[in-house]
Amino acid sequence: MSEDTVDRRDFLFRVGAGAGVAAIAYQAAASLRSLVPNVSYDAPTTVKLGSVSEFPDGLKFLPDQRLFVFREGNTFHAISAVCTHLGCTARAEALSSPEVRQVGGAPLRLTHRFQCPCHGSKYTGDGSNASGPAPRPLAWYHLSLAADDGQLVVDLAREVEHDFRLTV
Ligand code: FES
Repeated sequence: MSEDTVDRRDFLFRVGAGAGVAAIAYQAAASLRSLVPNVSYDAPTTVKLGSVSEFPDGLKFLPDQRLFVFREGNTFHAISAVCTHLGCTARAEALSSPEVRQVGGAPLRLTHRFQCPCHGSKYTGDGSNASGPAPRPLAWYHLSLAADDGQLVVDLAREVEHDFRLTV
């Protein structure tokens, strides 16, 4: 056997062995991946809140979503209760005399203000941070009506400007 033949055999053996190892590694990776289900355990960001008739005029607090939903006639808007300081749940306090203000360029009847019990941040009725350590206003979230059953829907991943109103 010539030295040339041995080198060729050795080369072919190494190529074959390398391909075999690569195939086994690929198969092992595919097997491991199959053990991880293709589902997301993150909470859904779009949540049905109930039918419009379940929301009386004024404020309704939804503890599960930590959300204040306001209704004035056929118009809705939603403000997060999550304090922008360290995430405690802010509380709403009814104003002794509600006022109408331009909010985001549109008139809004303000009936409440907000206060955080953790470190005392205060917010005005449109969610603007007024005092305390809160660095930003409370978030406003997008509202819509569900196409299938007409329920009010909030998208907690979609912040909106303060001129947002849903009219039903
Ligand atoms: S978490 Fe609200 S003021 Fe600190």
